[in-house]
Amino acid sequence: MKTKITELFGIQHPIIQGGMHHVGYAELAAAVSNAGGLGIITALTQPSPEALAEEIRRCREMTDKPFGVNVTFLPSVNTPDYPGYIKAIIDGGVKVVETAGNNPQQVLPPLHEAGVKVIHKCTSVRHALKAESIGCDAASVDGFECGGHPGEDDVPNFILLPRAAEELTIPFVASGGMANGRSLTAALAMGAEGMNMGTRFIATKEAPVHENVKQAILAATELDTRLVMRPLRNTERVLTNDAVERLLEKEKRLGADLKFEDIIDEVAGVYPRIMKEGEMEAGAWSCGMVAGLIHDIPTVKELIDRTMAESEDLIRQRLAGMLDS
Ligand SMILES: Cc1cc2nc3c(=O)[nH]c(=O)nc-3n(C[C@H](O)[C@H](O)[C@H](O)COP(=O)(O)O)c2cc1C
Repeated sequence: MKTKITELFGIQHPIIQGGMHHVGYAELAAAVSNAGGLGIITALTQPSPEALAEEIRRCREMTDKPFGVNVTFLPSVNTPDYPGYIKAIIDGGVKVVETAGNNPQQVLPPLHEAGVKVIHKCTSVRHALKAESIGCDAASVDGFECGGHPGEDDVPNFILLPRAAEELTIPFVASGGMANGRSLTAALAMGAEGMNMGTRFIATKEAPVHENVKQAILAATELDTRLVMRPLRNTERVLTNDAVERLLEKEKRLGADLKFEDIIDEVAGVYPRIMKEGEMEAGAWSCGMVAGLIHDIPTVKELIDRTMAESEDLIRQRLAGMLDS
C-alpha cells in the first residue's frame, strides 16, 4: 500500500506507533520499524538529552529502518531541556519527529535544516491548520476516543477526520481508536493517508511494559476509560481504577477550586510504577477506548501484517465487491 505518508517517511506500511510515556522505548520503536511501520521513541521518558542520545543509538542497533522521536510540549512543573533533546535527535541522525501538545514552531527551523520531517499531533482542525501554516510536513489527527490527551473539543474521528480532509493540504494520519484493518480502511476512506496507534501497540509481545498492563488492556472494554483533569483544561483519557475514581471524586467535590496539587497523589510519578512495576492501582495512566477492540497480545509484526492483510481484503473484496454486484 502506497500513500503520501509511506512516501514521506520512507516506510512500507502506513502505520505509526505514537509516542507513549514510559512505553516508547527503543525495543518497541525498533519492532514497529522492523515490521514496516514507523516506530517512535518518546523523548521525555528519557531523563536527559544524553539518555535520549543513548536510546537512539540502542534503537539503531536494533533496526536499520527509519524510526522517529516524539517531543511533547505539555504544561509541566519543570520545563525540560527541549533544545538539548532536539540536538540529540539531530545528532543521532533521526529523520522524523512527532511533536505534540503546544505549538512546535520554535523547534521547526533546526529540525528542517537537518532534513527532519515533522508530524504534529493535534486534536482539532484549527490546530492542524496552524501546524500546516507554520510548516509542519504532516499531521496526526487525534480524535476524542484517543488514549492520552484528547484536548477540550470532544470531536470524535467520524467527524474530525473528514473535517481535516476538507481543510488540510498536508497529509495526515488518523489517530485515536485505531486497532486493525477495519480502522485503517475507514481512516483511508475518510481522507487520512494512514493511521497512528497508541494503546493497541502496548498490548504486544515487544512492548517493554509489565505484563499486568497488557492484561489490564485485554480485560478492559470500551466503557472502562475516564476523562480526568478536565477542570484543569488538561484532559487525559485514562483506564479507570480506584485511584482514578478517587481523583474524579475530588474533582467533583472541589469544582472550580481544584488545583493540580489536589490530585498530585493520583497523577505524579505514576508511570514508572504502572509500566515497570505493574502496580495497576498506582494512579491514572493513559488508555484509549480502543481497549474494547483489543483481545490478544500478538507480536508487533503479527499485528501489522494482519492489519495490512485485513485492510487489503476489505478494499479488494468487501468494498470493491459491493460495486461489482
Ligand atoms: C500510555 C500512553 C502514553 C502516552 N504518552 C504520550 C506522550 O508522552 N506524548 C504524546 O504525544 N502522546 C502520548 N500518548 C498518545 C499516543 O501517542 C496516541 O496519540 C494515542 O494513544 C492514540 O490513541 P489510541 O490509544 O486510541 O490509539 C500516549 C498514549 C498512551 C496510551
